[in-house]
Amino acid sequence: GLSASGKSTTAYALEQLLMQKQRLCYVLDGDNLRHGINRDLGFTHEDRTENIRRTAEIARLMNDAGLIVIASLISPLVADRAMAQAIIGAERFVEVYLNTPLEVCEARDPKNLYIKARQGLITHFTGVSAPYEAPPAADICIDTQSVCPQEAAQQILATIKNRVQVPRLNGD
Ligand code: ADX
Repeated sequence: GLSASGKSTTAYALEQLLMQKQRLCYVLDGDNLRHGINRDLGFTHEDRTENIRRTAEIARLMNDAGLIVIASLISPLVADRAMAQAIIGAERFVEVYLNTPLEVCEARDPKNLYIKARQGLITHFTGVSAPYEAPPAADICIDTQSVCPQEAAQQILATIKNRVQVPRLNGD
């Protein structure tokens, strides 16, 4: 989803839920990764593709180590999401679309990024000066105007439960 659609908040709410259920999990958040492993990348198409590719490869390694990975990235292009799915494996990949409308994200503007994008101070801003291709067939769509983060996390958990088999550490 767009910037300020609720991705990070929902991701950490889901992490809490999974931890309560004694599931090993980890949030890979775009904003955080861009301070470290992806600090050399900007927001051109090429850099976003590389951002998503690296994140997917890390998620795959973590999956191999037995963790559930919650990746909260804008990931604006269909092709890049398809690449992530191919890296991770279709059987492990659940696509969550926070379809909170642009007007709502822009009104929230918690980091004052939309206002800067409108003023031209930030370029290539998703939804303003860079494209966002909505997922045509996401596994789950949530509008965070009407669904709180805990409820969103519950909805995602229900979808994961039906789709992905992950053993617990104690083996049950
Ligand atoms: S992605 O498109 O490459 O998947 P990612 O999720 O890593 O994006 O980073 C998006 C975050 O970077 C946003 O939440 C926002 O805080 C910040 N950001 C800074 N500049 C931009 C921009 N031009 N477009 C989108 N997000 C930006």
